[in-house]
Amino acid sequence: MPLFDWRPDYALDIPRVDDEHRMLFSAGGRLHKALVTGKSGPMLDALIDELAEYGRVHFAHEEQFMAEIRYPRMLAHKIEHQSFIHQVDRFYEAAAAGDRTLALNMLQFLERWLVRHIGSSDQRVRNHWRTVQAGTAASVERNT
Ligand SMILES: [Fe+2]
Ligand SMILES: [Fe+2]
Repeated sequence: MPLFDWRPDYALDIPRVDDEHRMLFSAGGRLHKALVTGKSGPMLDALIDELAEYGRVHFAHEEQFMAEIRYPRMLAHKIEHQSFIHQVDRFYEAAAAGDRTLALNMLQFLERWLVRHIGSSDQRVRNHWRTVQAGTAASVERNT
């Protein structure tokens, strides 16, 4: 599915963050493939764990980076990260309740997250980072 194929325009050019984003694309691709072949059931518990770990590790990295570059919309961005973590908690509840729509709901959630968060909110962080870099370069030039 093309949506879960990593594209260079998703890159923030921050190696650790980009690697983590790629991992989420990969998770979406694996879930999609499992759904298509009717084999998603056995993978769901491990996938929810993977998303929880992603939230814990990746958001910490990204939020640290946003603080370093003094990203002005950091609070709103962190609220989006919190919504991801809350959604993963709901996936745990749905799995425990035997919700048969869980795999499809997870797939739709990942699709939306890749487009709306990584493809939009995270890109705004990149744009700010580029502005900061350009400003730094200009001030270095002025001082030499
Ligand atoms: Fe991100
Ligand atoms: Fe983010």
